[in-house]
Amino acid sequence: MAWYLKYVIPLIFSIITLNFTATRAQGLSYQYQVCSTNKFTPNSTFQRDLTTLFSSLSSTASSNVEFFNNTVTAGTNSSDTVYGLFLCRGDIPSDLCNHCVGNATQRLSTHADCTLSKAAVVYYDECIVRYSNRSFFSTLTMQAGYALWNPTNMTNQESFKRLLYDTMNKTADDAAHFPTGAKKFATRETSIDIFQKLYCLAQCTQDLFPGDCRSCLDSLINSDLPGCCAGSQGGRVYYPNCIIRFEIYPFFRSLPTAPTPSPAGLVPPTNSGENKSRSRTIILIVVPIVSLATFLTLLYYVLWRRARKSSKILLRKNFGEESSTLQGLQFDLVTIKEATNNFSPENEIGKGGFGEVYKGILLDGRYIAVKRLSKSSRQGSVEFRNEILLIAKLQHKNLVAFIGFCLEEEEKILIYEYVSNRSLDYFLFGYPEEKLSWYQRYNIIKGTALGIFYLHEYSRLKVIHRDLKPSNVLLDENMNPKISDFGLARIVDIDQNRAETNRIVGTYGYMSPEYAMFGQFSEKSDVFSFGIMILEIITGKKNGNSYKSNEDDGGLMSNVWRNWTNQTPLSILEPNMKENYFETEVIRCIEIGLLCVQENPNMRPTIAEVVSYLNDLTIELPSPQEPAFFSHGIDQKAVMQQESSSNSSVIGSMPFSVNEMSISDFYPR
Ligand SMILES: *[C@@H]1O[C@H](CO)[C@@H](O)[C@H](O)[C@H]1NC(C)=O
Ligand SMILES: *[C@@H]1O[C@H](CO)[C@@H](O)[C@H](O)[C@H]1NC(C)=O
Ligand SMILES: *[C@@H]1O[C@H](CO)[C@@H](O)[C@H](O)[C@H]1NC(C)=O
Ligand SMILES: *[C@@H]1O[C@H](CO)[C@@H](O)[C@H](O)[C@H]1NC(C)=O
Ligand SMILES: *[C@@H]1O[C@H](CO)[C@@H](O)[C@H](O)[C@H]1NC(C)=O
Ligand SMILES: *[C@@H]1O[C@H](CO)[C@@H](O)[C@H](O)[C@H]1NC(C)=O
Ligand SMILES: *[C@@H]1O[C@H](CO)[C@@H](O)[C@H](O)[C@H]1NC(C)=O
Repeated sequence: MAWYLKYVIPLIFSIITLNFTATRAQGLSYQYQVCSTNKFTPNSTFQRDLTTLFSSLSSTASSNVEFFNNTVTAGTNSSDTVYGLFLCRGDIPSDLCNHCVGNATQRLSTHADCTLSKAAVVYYDECIVRYSNRSFFSTLTMQAGYALWNPTNMTNQESFKRLLYDTMNKTADDAAHFPTGAKKFATRETSIDIFQKLYCLAQCTQDLFPGDCRSCLDSLINSDLPGCCAGSQGGRVYYPNCIIRFEIYPFFRSLPTAPTPSPAGLVPPTNSGENKSRSRTIILIVVPIVSLATFLTLLYYVLWRRARKSSKILLRKNFGEESSTLQGLQFDLVTIKEATNNFSPENEIGKGGFGEVYKGILLDGRYIAVKRLSKSSRQGSVEFRNEILLIAKLQHKNLVAFIGFCLEEEEKILIYEYVSNRSLDYFLFGYPEEKLSWYQRYNIIKGTALGIFYLHEYSRLKVIHRDLKPSNVLLDENMNPKISDFGLARIVDIDQNRAETNRIVGTYGYMSPEYAMFGQFSEKSDVFSFGIMILEIITGKKNGNSYKSNEDDGGLMSNVWRNWTNQTPLSILEPNMKENYFETEVIRCIEIGLLCVQENPNMRPTIAEVVSYLNDLTIELPSPQEPAFFSHGIDQKAVMQQESSSNSSVIGSMPFSVNEMSISDFYPR
């Protein structure tokens, strides 16, 4: 909406956090050390020099200094000279810095591997201490590096890596732009999705020239990061001259943003007079800056309030009490237009009864799918509102992730992560020449089951999707399924196992009989739809494809059932299936599919049972009975008549053959 919105909140936030940063825990986190095998002789001049160096480092660290380099030469013999430095991480308080340097010098002088070493470096998360018999100041060293990473991988590796490299690069730019001698430290945070953020840190020792700092960080980002850490949930790479680290939780302290880099820190303050004049300078600079910032903040706030007011009213009108929690997910139309190139036709990836879907890219690099409800859509507000309230609370790798929404007088837009423009429907029925292997099909069955399991059992809510079908299952680049389209989903009480509606929405061919006829929906109606999907995935044939079914081939389910009872289950398999398959897996999936489409909901397994059947091939399954829509001759026509004679709907005009369309699209509002 307005550029200033982006600046107000960080400003307020940094002022608030300023007071809290000093009270953190004082633990040190030792990481790694490298000590040379070249040793000096005990009781030598070199040793005395080293002891002097250590005490100068420790005492300097206690006087509020973050970086210090020193050279100690006692005698005239240059081979006795010791060079050393310490660097504390840019965000840690000075007492922790002091503690860290003290611990590090102690360690270097007592550890068996390091006593008498001519050169050494030790890494803590809080500081680096290094010394050598050779001068190394202002010189880049790409040796003695160290990397540590979180063994847990991010789920969406490719997009995460892109975001990571991009953010790390920017953080490195920030850190390297400070002049020689100045503190070279930067952090950044950016959103991975609405639930997760990426936090990055980069720092160089202050003796480096800016160009050397950048090449040091470049080497870490481009040579070390890809090998160790890039797809992980966190990683750190430490070298003597520079460090990088990222996590998906905030691991650094927020700093008040310094107006300009100050080249302090090379030399510790030596007398109190200097200190006094320094604090006067600080007051002189800080007071006007703080007042100016406060003034600007207030000004922006007033403007921001005014600009947000109308959209806030709209938000409250639509979402009532929930509007405050949804505020952070609201995008303005300008951002969406930028992302989708003003809804250009090239960006369009789909069209439904509700409107168009566009692909887009946000400024932070995230790919999004934008579902824009057309003004003429009668589906409109209710499903829009419902979908937002629900999906904002759900997160699972087999569900399409929700990013946000845009709500203005004339526009209703939902924003999801971009998965792909291919759905399961497209793969099963769209391109006969492009067939899936059994391995992929099995993977899709299992992933979809997990997504439904999450909806039914594992999210904080108990969600019935009500419109499970292949066109609502998107496939990502690795063919992992992600359930989408929650416009019809409903939340039911955790202990409620059935609900009723007199407004039956969903898609024929996938609706359970009790839902289609009586409007009763439950977990078991989703299980029914899933069962149909399993059978479609195995056979490559669509259920209830009325124009194709002749009398001796009475549709998908009767065909499956006939072959099941004739003990020829494998003959229903998609004939073009390319690769080999395991008979036991296929047969088990057919049996699970048949169990899911039992007419009596109580005979169908729960999705939790389905997941365990798929995971553990030794669990014995109950024997399936004749499936629904077949046993008592209930066919779609009968269902349709029932429905159109009830006074709650006007779906009688819907053509039978259009199996894929949601009936909800035909509802008047
Ligand atoms: C080094 O000096 C200490 C005491 O200053 C003495 O105990 C030790 O024996 C000496 N070591 C050598 C190798 O001279
Ligand atoms: C610290 O490093 C700088 C930059 O290389 C160098 O000019 C200076 O002499 C060093 N200071 C000490 C005390 O060694
Ligand atoms: C300097 O010390 C080294 C070994 O510590 C020794 O070999 C060399 O002769 C010394 N040089 C002078 C000028 O004393
Ligand atoms: C530092 O020590 C190494 C190993 O003993 C030696 O080869 C090198 O010449 C020394 N460098 C200086 C400047 O004394
Ligand atoms: C250094 O840190 C380690 C681990 O935190 C601790 O055990 C040790 O006592 C510390 N030493 C000093 C000198 O603080
Ligand atoms: C994480 O990904 C890497 C490389 O992609 C792989 O080698 C490793 O096994 C994965 N770790 C886990 C825990 O999945
Ligand atoms: C990072 O920056 C370097 C140089 O600044 C550039 O060569 C590289 O392509 C950048 N990488 C990314 C992912 O932006």
